[in-house]
Amino acid sequence: MEALIAVSVAGLQKEDYTEEQRAAALGVIFGVDNQLVRDGTYLLAEVDGTLVGCGAWSQRNNRFGSDHVPGKDDGRLDPSKDAARIRGFFIHPAWSRKGIGSAVLRECEARALAAGFSRTELTATLTGVALYLAHGYTIESQEEIPLQGGVMLPVTPMSKNLSV
Ligand SMILES: CC(C)(COP(=O)(O)OP(=O)(O)OC[C@H]1O[C@@H](n2cnc3c(N)ncnc32)[C@H](O)[C@@H]1OP(=O)(O)O)[C@@H](O)C(=O)NCCC(=O)NCCS
Repeated sequence: MEALIAVSVAGLQKEDYTEEQRAAALGVIFGVDNQLVRDGTYLLAEVDGTLVGCGAWSQRNNRFGSDHVPGKDDGRLDPSKDAARIRGFFIHPAWSRKGIGSAVLRECEARALAAGFSRTELTATLTGVALYLAHGYTIESQEEIPLQGGVMLPVTPMSKNLSV
């Protein structure tokens, strides 16, 4: 998964983030959160046994990032009042724009709904915004995540009401 994430960031984010931004974010913001793997909520997309994409839903408070994101908060969300998180979507460049991200997102939303959540929230990269808009997400705000060396990473918090 870490290798897939590195290839996805290098191949698909070039028009949205500088090399400096991508390098500073890789492994901290763009990387595996193993809590989601342990929870069984990180989904993998494979073609003929090859990993081509990943994406997660989460019932943990953390909004984004890998195991190494500062201030990581793995506290559990309450489906009766909190929104489930959508996390960690990375598609291999050779398989982008083929509906894989959409398929993983639909499955994540279905599983969050089945777990009792009625809303989802995510923090989209600039690259990811179009995917989530196509799936009915609303832009909430614009943020910048501070990274090492004074580098800032612009991101877009978005949300969706699953019950509509
Ligand atoms: C964002 C990402 C996950 C999208 O995955 P994907 O499998 O290519 O998405 P899909 O093929 O399901 O796209 C579905 C729709 O979303 C929209 N969309 C997705 N990527 C788009 C792009 N680069 N430009 C414009 N629209 C886009 C389109 O409406 C697309 O439908 P279409 O191809 O019929 O026009 C992928 O580009 C990626 O891994 N990017 C690098 C890592 C990253 O930034 N991830 C987002 C984390 S929040």
